Amino acid sequence: MGVLENKARARTFYKYLSKVYDQINPFIWDERMRDEAIEMLGLSADDRVLDVGCGTGFATEGLLEHVDTVYGLDQSPHQLSKAYQKFGKRGDVRFHLGDAERLPFRDDAFDVVWSSGSIEYWPNPVVALRECRRITKPGGQVLIVGPDYPNSTIFQKLADAIMLFYDESEATRMFEAAGYEAFEHHIQQSRPGSPRAITTIAQVPE
Ligand SMILES: C[S@@+](CC[C@H](N)C(=O)[O-])C[C@H]1O[C@@H](n2cnc3c(N)ncnc32)[C@H](O)[C@@H]1O
Repeated sequence: MGVLENKARARTFYKYLSKVYDQINPFIWDERMRDEAIEMLGLSADDRVLDVGCGTGFATEGLLEHVDTVYGLDQSPHQLSKAYQKFGKRGDVRFHLGDAERLPFRDDAFDVVWSSGSIEYWPNPVVALRECRRITKPGGQVLIVGPDYPNSTIFQKLADAIMLFYDESEATRMFEAAGYEAFEHHIQQSRPGSPRAITTIAQVPE
């Protein structure tokens, strides 16, 4: 398990990274990739959407262009305080300080659960994916973006030491273990040579 697949360490990491997150993030995960993933969902304005690991609200902002109600949850108070500066603490986005592995919402509460760039920090991703399924209505959608596994052995070793990087077969294993039956994976990349994301869109069983 990578050094950042630990909730306390990830929280400390984001205490510092939150200061520059919005400047660094576009080199890895940019607006074009985010918007391409959002388009996969075919959102309606009245969909109730949760952004798990919302951070400073980069994806939240894109989701808000399509729907009226977005909830944002993150375990880092420092990341959330940056998000509050953009959206207000009690504005259009309903923010929650919380853990992806124990989502503080009732069963079937959302039409769509979205999470971008957060799964790689979750110590028990299958537990969190099961939570996402629990709080999404039957027939609703769960979309998870994570880092695609590198091709070269040296980068694989480095990646494994830091956090969860995974390929399509591992994504399939995790989603099946979490109780999903229908899903597809898409590889996203900003430009040749830049980091690749693996985006899985799953339908919650009826
Ligand atoms: C790379 S940022 C992604 C932020 C945002 N989703 C985006 O698209 O830019 C990862 C976020 O996941 C959050 N995170 C990590 N582990 C978490 C957990 N167990 N529960 C909730 N949030 C978590 C971090 O605090 C951080 O804000």
